[in-house]
Amino acid sequence: MGSLTGHSCGYLYFWYLVLIHPRKLYLLSGNYASDMKPKNYKLMIPGPVELTSEVLNEMARPLIGHRTPEFDEILEYCQDTLKEIFSTKNDVLLITGSGTAAMDAAIASTIKEGDEYICITGGKFGERMPEIVRAYGGIAKEVDVRWGSAVNPDDVEDAVSDSNAKAITLTHNETSTGVLHDAKAIGKIAKKNDLLFIVDAITSVGGDYVETDRWGIDICITGSQKCLAAPPGMAFAAVSEKAWDTISDNRSKRGYYLDLQRYRTALKKGTTPFTPSVTLIYGLKKALEAIRAEGIENRIKRHRLLAQATRGAAKEINLELFADEDSASNTVTAIKIPDGLTDDDVRGKMKREHGILMAGGQAQLKGKIFRIGHMGNVDYTDLMAVMSSLELTLYTSGHNIILGKGLAKIQETFL
Ligand SMILES: Cc1ncc(COP(=O)(O)O)c(C=O)c1O
Repeated sequence: MGSLTGHSCGYLYFWYLVLIHPRKLYLLSGNYASDMKPKNYKLMIPGPVELTSEVLNEMARPLIGHRTPEFDEILEYCQDTLKEIFSTKNDVLLITGSGTAAMDAAIASTIKEGDEYICITGGKFGERMPEIVRAYGGIAKEVDVRWGSAVNPDDVEDAVSDSNAKAITLTHNETSTGVLHDAKAIGKIAKKNDLLFIVDAITSVGGDYVETDRWGIDICITGSQKCLAAPPGMAFAAVSEKAWDTISDNRSKRGYYLDLQRYRTALKKGTTPFTPSVTLIYGLKKALEAIRAEGIENRIKRHRLLAQATRGAAKEINLELFADEDSASNTVTAIKIPDGLTDDDVRGKMKREHGILMAGGQAQLKGKIFRIGHMGNVDYTDLMAVMSSLELTLYTSGHNIILGKGLAKIQETFL
Protein backbone atom coordinates (compact mmCIF):
# COMPACT_ATOMS: atom_id res chain seq x y z
CA MET A 1 0.00 0.00 0.00
CA GLY A 2 1.44 3.35 -1.01
CA SER A 3 1.75 6.09 1.57
CA LEU A 4 -0.96 8.76 1.70
CA THR A 5 -0.03 12.18 0.44
CA GLY A 6 -0.76 15.29 2.56
CA HIS A 7 -3.51 16.15 0.10
CA SER A 8 -5.35 12.83 0.38
CA CYS A 9 -4.90 12.86 4.16
CA GLY A 10 -6.72 16.20 4.32
CA TYR A 11 -9.39 14.83 1.97
CA LEU A 12 -10.03 11.79 4.17
CA TYR A 13 -10.05 13.89 7.35
CA PHE A 14 -12.61 16.19 5.76
CA TRP A 15 -14.98 13.24 5.09
CA TYR A 16 -14.25 11.85 8.57
CA LEU A 17 -15.44 15.14 10.04
CA VAL A 18 -18.53 15.37 7.87
CA LEU A 19 -19.70 11.75 7.93
CA ILE A 20 -18.26 10.22 11.06
CA HIS A 21 -17.84 13.02 13.50
CA PRO A 22 -20.11 15.99 12.76
CA ARG A 23 -19.58 17.29 16.27
CA LYS A 24 -15.88 17.85 15.49
CA LEU A 25 -16.74 19.95 12.46
CA TYR A 26 -18.97 22.00 14.73
CA LEU A 27 -16.00 22.38 17.02
CA LEU A 28 -13.94 23.87 14.20
CA SER A 29 -16.75 26.27 13.35
CA GLY A 30 -16.04 28.37 16.40
CA ASN A 31 -19.20 27.42 18.29
CA TYR A 32 -17.30 25.09 20.53
CA ALA A 33 -17.79 27.11 23.71
CA SER A 34 -21.55 27.39 23.47
CA ASP A 35 -21.90 23.77 22.36
CA MET A 36 -20.02 22.58 25.43
CA LYS A 37 -22.13 24.48 27.91
CA PRO A 38 -24.70 22.67 30.00
CA LYS A 39 -28.27 22.96 28.85
CA ASN A 40 -29.43 22.79 32.46
CA TYR A 41 -28.63 26.35 33.42
CA LYS A 42 -27.95 27.15 37.02
CA LEU A 43 -30.82 29.39 38.09
CA MET A 44 -29.64 32.34 40.13
CA ILE A 45 -32.68 34.39 39.20
CA PRO A 46 -35.36 35.57 41.65
CA GLY A 47 -37.71 32.78 40.61
CA PRO A 48 -38.52 30.36 39.33
CA VAL A 49 -35.90 28.67 41.47
CA GLU A 50 -34.30 25.27 41.14
CA LEU A 51 -36.30 22.39 42.56
CA THR A 52 -34.88 19.43 44.46
CA SER A 53 -35.04 16.01 42.83
CA GLU A 54 -37.50 14.98 45.57
CA VAL A 55 -39.92 17.70 44.44
CA LEU A 56 -39.41 16.89 40.75
CA ASN A 57 -39.87 13.15 41.28
CA GLU A 58 -42.98 13.68 43.36
CA MET A 59 -44.59 15.40 40.40
CA ALA A 60 -44.15 12.26 38.31
CA ARG A 61 -46.61 10.38 40.54
CA PRO A 62 -49.89 9.22 38.97
CA LEU A 63 -52.77 11.62 39.35
CA ILE A 64 -55.50 11.12 41.90
CA GLY A 65 -58.96 12.68 41.95
CA HIS A 66 -59.06 16.06 43.62
CA ARG A 67 -62.32 15.29 45.43
CA THR A 68 -60.92 12.35 47.38
CA PRO A 69 -59.87 11.92 51.01
CA GLU A 70 -56.28 11.25 49.85
CA PHE A 71 -56.07 14.60 48.11
CA ASP A 72 -57.83 16.41 50.98
CA GLU A 73 -55.08 15.14 53.25
CA ILE A 74 -52.40 16.65 51.01
CA LEU A 75 -54.24 19.98 50.93
CA GLU A 76 -54.61 19.95 54.71
CA TYR A 77 -50.87 19.41 55.16
CA CYS A 78 -50.14 22.31 52.78
CA GLN A 79 -52.67 24.54 54.53
CA ASP A 80 -51.25 23.86 58.02
CA THR A 81 -47.65 24.34 56.93
CA LEU A 82 -48.38 27.51 54.94
CA LYS A 83 -50.11 29.03 58.00
CA GLU A 84 -46.90 28.53 59.96
CA ILE A 85 -44.76 30.00 57.21
CA PHE A 86 -47.06 33.03 56.88
CA SER A 87 -47.21 33.37 60.71
CA THR A 88 -50.97 33.51 60.58
CA LYS A 89 -54.04 31.95 62.12
CA ASN A 90 -55.99 32.95 59.01
CA ASP A 91 -56.80 30.53 56.23
CA VAL A 92 -54.28 30.50 53.39
CA LEU A 93 -56.11 30.15 50.09
CA LEU A 94 -54.53 28.36 47.15
CA ILE A 95 -55.21 29.70 43.66
CA THR A 96 -54.03 27.98 40.50
CA GLY A 97 -52.06 30.68 38.72
CA SER A 98 -48.86 32.66 39.22
CA GLY A 99 -48.45 35.15 42.08
CA THR A 100 -50.23 37.87 40.13
CA ALA A 101 -53.45 35.80 40.27
CA ALA A 102 -53.56 36.34 44.05
CA MET A 103 -52.82 40.08 43.62
CA ASP A 104 -55.66 40.28 41.11
CA ALA A 105 -57.96 38.31 43.45
CA ALA A 106 -57.16 40.60 46.40
CA ILE A 107 -58.24 43.68 44.48
CA ALA A 108 -61.11 42.08 42.54
CA SER A 109 -62.66 40.79 45.77
CA THR A 110 -62.39 43.98 47.82
CA ILE A 111 -62.96 46.77 45.32
CA LYS A 112 -66.05 48.77 44.37
CA GLU A 113 -65.95 51.18 41.46
CA GLY A 114 -64.42 54.49 42.58
CA ASP A 115 -62.72 53.07 45.69
CA GLU A 116 -59.40 54.67 46.53
CA TYR A 117 -56.31 52.55 47.23
CA ILE A 118 -53.01 53.99 48.38
CA CYS A 119 -50.36 52.07 46.45
CA ILE A 120 -46.72 52.25 47.46
CA THR A 121 -44.63 51.90 44.32
CA GLY A 122 -40.85 52.22 43.81
CA GLY A 123 -40.25 49.35 41.41
CA LYS A 124 -41.67 47.30 38.58
CA PHE A 125 -43.74 45.09 40.87
CA GLY A 126 -44.96 47.92 43.08
CA GLU A 127 -46.49 49.36 39.94
CA ARG A 128 -48.58 46.27 39.37
CA MET A 129 -51.04 46.87 42.24
CA PRO A 130 -52.13 50.34 41.03
CA GLU A 131 -52.50 48.90 37.53
CA ILE A 132 -54.84 46.23 38.87
CA VAL A 133 -56.79 48.77 40.95
CA ARG A 134 -57.34 50.92 37.85
CA ALA A 135 -58.27 47.87 35.77
CA TYR A 136 -61.16 47.28 38.20
CA GLY A 137 -62.37 50.88 38.12
CA GLY A 138 -60.71 52.02 41.33
CA ILE A 139 -58.58 55.09 42.03
CA ALA A 140 -54.95 54.30 42.75
CA LYS A 141 -53.13 57.00 44.64
CA GLU A 142 -49.43 56.23 44.33
CA VAL A 143 -46.81 56.93 46.96
CA ASP A 144 -43.87 57.07 44.64
CA VAL A 145 -40.59 55.85 46.12
CA ARG A 146 -37.18 56.38 44.53
CA TRP A 147 -36.12 53.09 42.93
CA GLY A 148 -33.48 51.55 45.20
CA SER A 149 -34.86 53.03 48.46
CA ALA A 150 -37.46 51.91 50.95
CA VAL A 151 -40.63 53.88 51.53
CA ASN A 152 -40.61 56.53 54.22
CA PRO A 153 -43.62 55.79 56.47
CA ASP A 154 -44.21 59.55 56.92
CA ASP A 155 -44.98 59.81 53.21
CA VAL A 156 -47.60 57.10 53.62
CA GLU A 157 -49.09 58.93 56.64
CA ASP A 158 -49.33 62.08 54.52
CA ALA A 159 -50.99 60.23 51.64
CA VAL A 160 -53.50 58.66 54.02
CA SER A 161 -54.43 61.92 55.73
CA ASP A 162 -55.02 63.46 52.33
CA SER A 163 -57.35 60.75 51.05
CA ASN A 164 -60.52 58.75 51.34
CA ALA A 165 -58.66 55.50 51.06
CA LYS A 166 -60.01 52.04 51.67
CA ALA A 167 -56.68 50.20 51.58
CA ILE A 168 -52.91 50.45 51.40
CA THR A 169 -50.93 48.17 49.11
CA LEU A 170 -47.24 47.38 49.49
CA THR A 171 -44.69 45.18 47.76
CA HIS A 172 -42.81 43.84 50.77
CA ASN A 173 -39.72 42.75 48.85
CA GLU A 174 -39.36 44.75 45.62
CA THR A 175 -37.66 42.20 43.40
CA SER A 176 -36.90 44.64 40.58
CA THR A 177 -34.70 46.85 42.77
CA GLY A 178 -33.65 44.46 45.56
CA VAL A 179 -35.32 46.53 48.28
CA LEU A 180 -37.06 45.27 51.41
CA HIS A 181 -39.74 47.65 52.72
CA ASP A 182 -40.77 47.95 56.34
CA ALA A 183 -44.15 46.22 56.21
CA LYS A 184 -44.50 46.36 59.98
CA ALA A 185 -44.36 50.18 60.00
CA ILE A 186 -46.89 50.47 57.17
CA GLY A 187 -49.14 47.95 58.92
CA LYS A 188 -49.32 50.26 61.95
CA ILE A 189 -50.46 53.14 59.75
CA ALA A 190 -53.11 50.95 58.13
CA LYS A 191 -54.37 49.80 61.51
CA LYS A 192 -54.44 53.30 63.02
CA ASN A 193 -56.53 54.54 60.08
CA ASP A 194 -58.69 51.41 59.85
CA LEU A 195 -57.55 50.63 56.30
CA LEU A 196 -57.09 47.26 54.70
CA PHE A 197 -53.44 46.34 54.32
CA ILE A 198 -52.70 44.29 51.19
CA VAL A 199 -49.14 43.02 50.84
CA ASP A 200 -47.39 41.41 47.91
CA ALA A 201 -44.92 39.20 49.77
CA ILE A 202 -44.18 37.13 46.67
CA THR A 203 -40.41 37.14 47.15
CA SER A 204 -40.29 37.18 50.94
CA VAL A 205 -42.63 34.49 52.32
CA GLY A 206 -40.47 31.46 53.10
CA GLY A 207 -37.20 33.39 52.79
CA ASP A 208 -37.55 36.30 55.20
CA TYR A 209 -39.67 37.35 58.15
CA VAL A 210 -43.30 37.87 57.21
CA GLU A 211 -45.43 38.25 60.33
CA THR A 212 -48.84 38.37 58.70
CA ASP A 213 -50.95 38.66 61.88
CA ARG A 214 -48.56 40.67 64.05
CA TRP A 215 -47.97 43.24 61.31
CA GLY A 216 -51.71 43.56 60.64
CA ILE A 217 -51.60 42.32 57.05
CA ASP A 218 -55.15 41.71 55.86
CA ILE A 219 -54.32 40.02 52.59
CA CYS A 220 -50.83 38.57 52.37
CA ILE A 221 -49.87 37.17 49.01
CA THR A 222 -47.14 34.88 47.77
CA GLY A 223 -46.24 32.66 44.82
CA SER A 224 -44.94 29.10 44.76
CA GLN A 225 -41.84 29.49 42.59
CA LYS A 226 -39.82 31.82 44.80
CA CYS A 227 -38.65 31.28 48.38
CA LEU A 228 -40.91 28.26 48.89
CA ALA A 229 -38.91 26.41 46.20
CA ALA A 230 -42.00 24.80 44.71
CA PRO A 231 -42.97 24.66 41.02
CA PRO A 232 -44.44 27.77 39.37
CA GLY A 233 -48.21 27.95 38.97
CA MET A 234 -49.64 28.36 42.48
CA ALA A 235 -50.52 31.58 44.28
CA PHE A 236 -51.47 31.93 47.94
CA ALA A 237 -53.38 34.54 49.92
CA ALA A 238 -53.77 34.68 53.71
CA VAL A 239 -56.94 36.66 54.42
CA SER A 240 -57.89 38.30 57.75
CA GLU A 241 -61.37 38.53 59.30
CA LYS A 242 -61.32 42.27 58.62
CA ALA A 243 -60.74 41.58 54.92
CA TRP A 244 -63.51 38.96 54.93
CA ASP A 245 -65.92 41.56 56.32
CA THR A 246 -65.11 43.82 53.37
CA ILE A 247 -65.26 40.97 50.87
CA SER A 248 -68.57 39.54 52.06
CA ASP A 249 -70.14 43.02 52.15
CA ASN A 250 -68.96 43.70 48.62
CA ARG A 251 -71.94 43.17 46.34
CA SER A 252 -70.12 44.54 43.32
CA LYS A 253 -67.21 42.14 43.33
CA ARG A 254 -65.48 41.91 40.00
CA GLY A 255 -63.96 38.48 39.92
CA TYR A 256 -65.45 35.06 39.28
CA TYR A 257 -62.48 32.68 39.12
CA LEU A 258 -60.61 35.17 41.32
CA ASP A 259 -63.42 35.82 43.82
CA LEU A 260 -61.74 34.94 47.13
CA GLN A 261 -65.11 34.13 48.71
CA ARG A 262 -65.39 31.02 46.54
CA TYR A 263 -62.01 29.81 47.80
CA ARG A 264 -63.06 30.34 51.40
CA THR A 265 -66.34 28.47 50.97
CA ALA A 266 -64.51 25.55 49.33
CA LEU A 267 -61.76 25.54 51.94
CA LYS A 268 -64.35 25.13 54.70
CA LYS A 269 -65.11 21.78 53.05
CA GLY A 270 -61.37 21.04 52.81
CA THR A 271 -61.21 21.54 49.08
CA THR A 272 -60.77 24.07 46.25
CA PRO A 273 -63.56 25.69 44.19
CA PHE A 274 -62.13 24.64 40.82
CA THR A 275 -59.90 21.81 39.65
CA PRO A 276 -56.57 22.42 41.35
CA SER A 277 -53.16 21.75 39.79
CA VAL A 278 -52.88 18.30 41.39
CA THR A 279 -49.39 17.60 40.06
CA LEU A 280 -48.01 20.93 41.23
CA ILE A 281 -49.59 20.42 44.63
CA TYR A 282 -47.73 17.11 44.97
CA GLY A 283 -44.56 19.12 44.39
CA LEU A 284 -45.69 21.83 46.81
CA LYS A 285 -46.20 19.29 49.60
CA LYS A 286 -42.66 17.94 49.13
CA ALA A 287 -41.25 21.46 49.11
CA LEU A 288 -43.13 22.31 52.30
CA GLU A 289 -41.86 19.12 53.96
CA ALA A 290 -38.32 20.33 53.21
CA ILE A 291 -39.11 23.71 54.80
CA ARG A 292 -40.43 22.00 57.92
CA ALA A 293 -37.30 19.83 58.06
CA GLU A 294 -35.02 22.85 57.77
CA GLY A 295 -37.14 24.96 60.15
CA ILE A 296 -38.43 28.36 59.08
CA GLU A 297 -36.10 30.25 61.41
CA ASN A 298 -33.03 28.41 60.03
CA ARG A 299 -34.25 29.03 56.53
CA ILE A 300 -34.52 32.77 57.11
CA LYS A 301 -31.06 32.77 58.70
CA ARG A 302 -29.66 31.01 55.62
CA HIS A 303 -31.25 33.57 53.30
CA ARG A 304 -29.91 36.45 55.38
CA LEU A 305 -26.41 34.99 55.41
CA LEU A 306 -26.48 34.47 51.65
CA ALA A 307 -27.59 38.07 51.13
CA GLN A 308 -24.90 39.40 53.45
CA ALA A 309 -22.25 37.30 51.70
CA THR A 310 -23.43 38.39 48.23
CA ARG A 311 -23.36 42.08 49.12
CA GLY A 312 -19.98 41.78 50.84
CA ALA A 313 -18.44 39.86 47.95
CA ALA A 314 -19.80 42.27 45.35
CA LYS A 315 -18.16 45.18 47.11
CA GLU A 316 -14.85 43.28 47.36
CA ILE A 317 -14.73 43.00 43.58
CA ASN A 318 -15.45 46.69 43.05
CA LEU A 319 -19.11 46.40 42.23
CA GLU A 320 -21.65 48.91 43.43
CA LEU A 321 -24.89 47.76 45.04
CA PHE A 322 -28.05 49.28 43.62
CA ALA A 323 -30.28 49.29 46.70
CA ASP A 324 -29.59 51.30 49.84
CA GLU A 325 -27.85 48.87 52.15
CA ASP A 326 -30.05 49.51 55.16
CA SER A 327 -33.06 48.31 53.21
CA ALA A 328 -31.46 45.66 51.01
CA SER A 329 -33.44 42.53 50.24
CA ASN A 330 -32.44 39.22 51.77
CA THR A 331 -33.59 37.17 48.82
CA VAL A 332 -32.28 39.07 45.78
CA THR A 333 -29.34 41.43 45.32
CA ALA A 334 -29.31 44.14 42.65
CA ILE A 335 -25.85 45.19 41.44
CA LYS A 336 -24.89 47.99 39.06
CA ILE A 337 -23.22 46.97 35.81
CA PRO A 338 -19.76 48.59 36.01
CA ASP A 339 -18.98 51.54 33.72
CA GLY A 340 -17.62 50.41 30.38
CA LEU A 341 -19.33 47.00 30.50
CA THR A 342 -22.63 45.96 28.98
CA ASP A 343 -25.34 43.63 30.21
CA ASP A 344 -24.05 41.09 27.68
CA ASP A 345 -20.49 41.37 29.05
CA VAL A 346 -21.83 40.30 32.42
CA ARG A 347 -25.04 38.30 32.17
CA GLY A 348 -24.59 37.17 28.57
CA LYS A 349 -21.11 35.83 29.26
CA MET A 350 -22.17 34.19 32.53
CA LYS A 351 -24.85 32.31 30.64
CA ARG A 352 -22.75 31.39 27.60
CA GLU A 353 -19.53 30.46 29.33
CA HIS A 354 -20.64 29.25 32.73
CA GLY A 355 -24.25 28.19 32.26
CA ILE A 356 -25.40 30.52 35.04
CA LEU A 357 -28.57 32.59 34.69
CA MET A 358 -28.85 35.87 36.52
CA ALA A 359 -31.68 38.40 36.10
CA GLY A 360 -31.34 41.71 34.29
CA GLY A 361 -32.72 45.14 35.08
CA GLN A 362 -36.34 45.92 34.27
CA ALA A 363 -37.91 49.07 32.81
CA GLN A 364 -35.57 52.05 33.35
CA LEU A 365 -32.99 49.72 34.93
CA LYS A 366 -32.64 47.61 31.78
CA GLY A 367 -28.93 47.31 30.94
CA LYS A 368 -27.98 49.15 34.13
CA ILE A 369 -28.15 46.47 36.80
CA PHE A 370 -28.07 42.71 37.15
CA ARG A 371 -29.75 40.75 39.92
CA ILE A 372 -28.63 37.64 41.73
CA GLY A 373 -31.48 35.62 43.21
CA HIS A 374 -30.43 33.77 46.35
CA MET A 375 -33.72 32.31 47.41
CA GLY A 376 -35.27 28.89 47.85
CA ASN A 377 -32.66 26.15 47.98
CA VAL A 378 -29.59 28.28 47.20
CA ASP A 379 -26.70 27.55 49.55
CA TYR A 380 -23.07 28.41 50.23
CA THR A 381 -21.77 26.15 47.45
CA ASP A 382 -24.08 27.71 44.87
CA LEU A 383 -22.97 31.18 45.82
CA MET A 384 -19.29 30.21 45.60
CA ALA A 385 -19.86 28.81 42.11
CA VAL A 386 -21.59 32.00 41.01
CA MET A 387 -18.96 34.27 42.52
CA SER A 388 -16.03 32.35 41.04
CA SER A 389 -17.64 32.52 37.58
CA LEU A 390 -18.55 36.17 38.07
CA GLU A 391 -15.00 37.07 39.04
CA LEU A 392 -13.64 35.37 35.91
CA THR A 393 -16.29 37.00 33.75
CA LEU A 394 -15.57 40.49 35.04
CA TYR A 395 -11.79 40.01 35.01
CA THR A 396 -11.73 38.83 31.41
CA SER A 397 -14.06 41.68 30.44
CA GLY A 398 -11.54 44.20 31.73
CA HIS A 399 -13.08 45.08 35.11
CA ASN A 400 -10.44 45.95 37.68
CA ILE A 401 -10.51 43.26 40.38
CA ILE A 402 -8.23 40.97 42.31
CA LEU A 403 -9.31 37.40 41.64
CA GLY A 404 -10.48 35.54 44.72
CA LYS A 405 -11.44 38.53 46.85
CA GLY A 406 -15.16 37.98 46.46
CA LEU A 407 -14.78 34.28 47.19
CA ALA A 408 -12.79 34.97 50.34
CA LYS A 409 -15.50 37.34 51.55
CA ILE A 410 -18.16 34.67 51.15
CA GLN A 411 -16.00 32.19 53.07
CA GLU A 412 -15.44 34.70 55.88
CA THR A 413 -19.17 35.40 56.09
CA PHE A 414 -19.93 31.70 56.48
CA LEU A 415 -17.15 30.98 59.01
C1 LIG B 1 -42.49 41.15 44.14
C2 LIG B 1 -43.16 40.45 43.01
N1 LIG B 1 -44.46 40.67 42.82
C3 LIG B 1 -45.13 40.08 41.81
C4 LIG B 1 -44.49 39.22 40.96
C5 LIG B 1 -45.26 38.56 39.87
O1 LIG B 1 -45.36 37.21 40.17
P1 LIG B 1 -45.80 36.15 39.08
O2 LIG B 1 -44.85 36.26 37.95
O3 LIG B 1 -45.70 34.84 39.84
O4 LIG B 1 -47.19 36.45 38.69
C6 LIG B 1 -43.14 38.97 41.10
C7 LIG B 1 -42.41 38.11 40.16
O5 LIG B 1 -41.21 38.07 40.10
C8 LIG B 1 -42.45 39.60 42.17
O6 LIG B 1 -41.16 39.38 42.36
